Amino acid sequence: MRRSQTRLIPAGAAAVLLLTAGTALPARADPARDAILTTYAAEARKEDSGFTGFDAARGQALYRGPHTGGKAETPACATCHTPDPTRAGQHQKTGRSIEPMAVTANPARFTNAADVEKRFSRDCPAVLGRACTAREKGDVITYLLTGKP
Ligand code: HEC
Repeated sequence: MRRSQTRLIPAGAAAVLLLTAGTALPARADPARDAILTTYAAEARKEDSGFTGFDAARGQALYRGPHTGGKAETPACATCHTPDPTRAGQHQKTGRSIEPMAVTANPARFTNAADVEKRFSRDCPAVLGRACTAREKGDVITYLLTGKP
């Protein structure tokens, strides 16, 4: 009995270490972020009855660009947010540092609906020359949940 208990303690400690190991794990769920994605999904369904869900690969393509419709100096989200979203970005014009976009590196991302909407409505026209659709917004967030460059 005593022997099996001493074995259990190190196993428990290992489990705690695994749980806190960081960026290799999927992003932690957040109710506010889930609500934002649910809202975009409902809007995407309204825009297109054939909508079947968000797609990280489509989000990655949008994030990386290059696009030609917007400002010449900002052909991609990656221009300011960096091609590897787990890293800090840099504003193309002001040079100011921007916190990482990947949720794995920055768990506060996409948790304030008003902030998220404000930035989408500013950044999409700068890059694409038009607003992002609800599907595109959901695709980008879904991509940034993966923590992949
Ligand atoms: C000219 C530089 C620039 C470009 C290009 C740019 N962004 Fe941003 N973005 C910013 C800045 C500055 C912030 C605000 C600082 C922050 O949130 O860390 C921001 C924040 C955001 C946020 C808010 C995230 C949150 O958690 O509140 C979203 C969403 C966003 N950007 C999406 C995009 C998308 C999508 C593209 C490409 C279509 C893009 N951005 C291109 C500069 C840029």
